[in-house]
Amino acid sequence: MADADALKRLAAARALDFVTDGMRLGLGTGSTAAHFVDLLGDRVAAGLKVVGVPTSERTRAQALSRGVPIATLDEQPELDLCIDGADEIGPELALIKGGGGALLREKLVASAAREMIVIADQTKHVAMLGQFPLPVEGVDFGIAALQRRLDAAIAAAGCAGPGTLRRTADGAVFRTDQNNVILDYALGRIPDPARLAAALDGVVGVVEHGLFLGLARRALLAGPDGITLLEW
Ligand code: A5P
Repeated sequence: MADADALKRLAAARALDFVTDGMRLGLGTGSTAAHFVDLLGDRVAAGLKVVGVPTSERTRAQALSRGVPIATLDEQPELDLCIDGADEIGPELALIKGGGGALLREKLVASAAREMIVIADQTKHVAMLGQFPLPVEGVDFGIAALQRRLDAAIAAAGCAGPGTLRRTADGAVFRTDQNNVILDYALGRIPDPARLAAALDGVVGVVEHGLFLGLARRALLAGPDGITLLEW
């Protein structure tokens, strides 16, 4: 069986079929999106004309290194297509994103695009969201109070599970590209993502959360037998 990284690259390669000359592209973050940027670099070198809006400093650096022309979201506020990975893909193409910490810029870029296509290996496809801890990005002023408000809001939305302040491998508090912090909520199950998203949207101090609902209309899932296209 193909290994997970090969499957990610396969999904990324298929996404290139949706890219046409002149497109303004949202460029996602993570190992699968990195394959896409890498392959896009080859197409650009061969003459494809596109401009990419990266969803993270990491992706920005990679796009530059691969010769992909980039712009900021201020320079290109309307995008044709956003290609990004996901941590989980549930029913109705509801997503959990943010495992790489880029959820805020990812949601801003995806929301600016006419279409979002998710690329992933098929293990990301789940019957119910929640096994992957849900990232919640917040301001660091009064983080303990924020966590208490979040715990209450999550319980009121019918979910439960501990939130952990994300740290780097060396133990420092993880900072997003927007200099915020992330609480990862191990909820196990999210039976009603819309209800939880609405609850999180209402918590003071939350900047963004990793539930992406109604944004993706297509997903390209790579498995040992090839690509499955999910559409919603
Ligand atoms: C980045 O913040 C995330 O949303 C990624 O898109 C997600 O973690 C998927 O990453 P992989 O492609 O590395 O699995």
